[in-house]
Amino acid sequence: MKNMVATTYAGLEALLAAELKSLGADAVEIGRRMVSFRGDKALMYKANYCSRFALRILMEVHAFSIRDQEGFYSAVRAIPWENFLSTRNTLAVQAVTSGDILTHSKYAAQLTKDAVTDRFMERQQERPSVDLERPDLLINVHVRQGECHVSLDSSGESLHKRGWRKEQGEAPLSEVMAAALVALSGWTGEGEFLDPMCGSGTLPIEAAMIALNIPAGRFRRFFGFYKWKDFDRELWNGIKAEAHTQQRDGAALLIRGCDASWKAVAAAEANVRQAGLEEWVRIEKKPFQAVFPRRPSGVIVTNPPYDERIRSHDNLTLYHHFGDVLKQRFRGYTAWVFSGDLKAIKNVGLRPMGKHVLFNGPIECRYVRFELFGGALEDQRQRNSDQHE
Ligand SMILES: C[S@@+](CC[C@H](N)C(=O)[O-])C[C@H]1O[C@@H](n2cnc3c(N)ncnc32)[C@H](O)[C@@H]1O
Repeated sequence: MKNMVATTYAGLEALLAAELKSLGADAVEIGRRMVSFRGDKALMYKANYCSRFALRILMEVHAFSIRDQEGFYSAVRAIPWENFLSTRNTLAVQAVTSGDILTHSKYAAQLTKDAVTDRFMERQQERPSVDLERPDLLINVHVRQGECHVSLDSSGESLHKRGWRKEQGEAPLSEVMAAALVALSGWTGEGEFLDPMCGSGTLPIEAAMIALNIPAGRFRRFFGFYKWKDFDRELWNGIKAEAHTQQRDGAALLIRGCDASWKAVAAAEANVRQAGLEEWVRIEKKPFQAVFPRRPSGVIVTNPPYDERIRSHDNLTLYHHFGDVLKQRFRGYTAWVFSGDLKAIKNVGLRPMGKHVLFNGPIECRYVRFELFGGALEDQRQRNSDQHE
């Protein structure tokens, strides 16, 4: 059993912890933008292949305390690196530091690389070289005050890169964030799933993958552990085959993405094709003002424009119109709006029934739920909300 860490975005730790437990992780503990857990190699492969909410799966090789930089260098040099790579391999180091012993992340990365290569020079008079693009071994260093964790990055590149994205669109959501928004919405495949401002299609695609239980890593071509000395291809193939047996058929699914922009629609269609989801995900070129419900109930999850460069007046109007469309047409639906423009969200003009605070990169966002009750119940809610204003 190994100590491992899965990293994620601020606000998604609880989702990730629950997911890791369901994959079989032990000793699951929530941290800041990460979840630590214990598991074996099979679990590490499974987490990489199946986790929708993790960015990277790190396998710890050594945890230690330091008082100064020399202490850091010697502790890293003492790690038996020859167990993990040979002089023919390449390496790279990613470091995150805080506290006053190692104040610069780049310097910590450099020191780590020196410690590893010095160890090889001393023992074998040869050293592995550095490859920042696609190293055989990506070493992850985390230093907080004097507490250090040195790990191997088994993902190699961030797991939000699912492998289905052909086209970016303008401001695409991270796939990890999109999967989290779908999960938090509680949509389980019943009723319609609709994103009326879908951009490159991230939300409908992740929604389809969740509903069909397609592993998040299904379309990735590369994981860091492929290049590890102990890569067990048979175990890996077994993990994938087992995950595939758990896929569901989506005969009754209705998932739709619409966008006003031709470019966005073309990107979304290309991405849906790449993921092989044409059967379940429909993309339509139309503004949300022209979108009508297809089922008596459903879930709307959307991420309207909130670019700070767009004049906020335009945003306010767009959100206001969107609120009107929801009220007038989508009775029986639940709508979730994800945005960094807090003022604009208020302009939707509906009473929020729940919210999450999440971070999209450095931008603090709200993910707000609106219930679109029908008839008398809605009138009653509106009256209550007016009284509370
Ligand atoms: C922040 S982007 C959505 C990004 C998307 N979630 C993704 O991952 O690619 C907002 C989208 O809203 C679209 N949009 C703006 N006004 C619209 C309208 N009136 N009707 C439909 N889409 C609109 C834009 O074309 C843009 O693609």
